[in-house]
Amino acid sequence: MPQVTYIEHSGGSRTVDVPVGENVMRGALYNGIDGIAGECGGAPSCATCHVYVDADWTARVGGPASEAEAELLQAAACEVKPSSRLSCQIVMSDQLDGLVVHMPEAQY
Ligand code: FES
Repeated sequence: MPQVTYIEHSGGSRTVDVPVGENVMRGALYNGIDGIAGECGGAPSCATCHVYVDADWTARVGGPASEAEAELLQAAACEVKPSSRLSCQIVMSDQLDGLVVHMPEAQY
């Protein structure tokens, strides 16, 4: 099963299994990882699943946020960067095994 490493704003990290077809937001919630809220359940409409995709993974997750995703990210609590994505919109595949995402300081 592919793995994702979630790095907290404080620097701590956890690496967990996230099934193929599941999104990165749910991967965090199902594994009890703080730092991603996912309030809307992936509708997407809340931007509380904001993450910064590690630079090595930008292309493999499909590049930077789409125009629609970028618009939603304007509601994010923390600074939006070129690496910002909604983690509910990143769907796991075997090609994403080893994905690294950095969580912002806050989601609200
Ligand atoms: S969970 Fe709400 S936008 Fe991703």
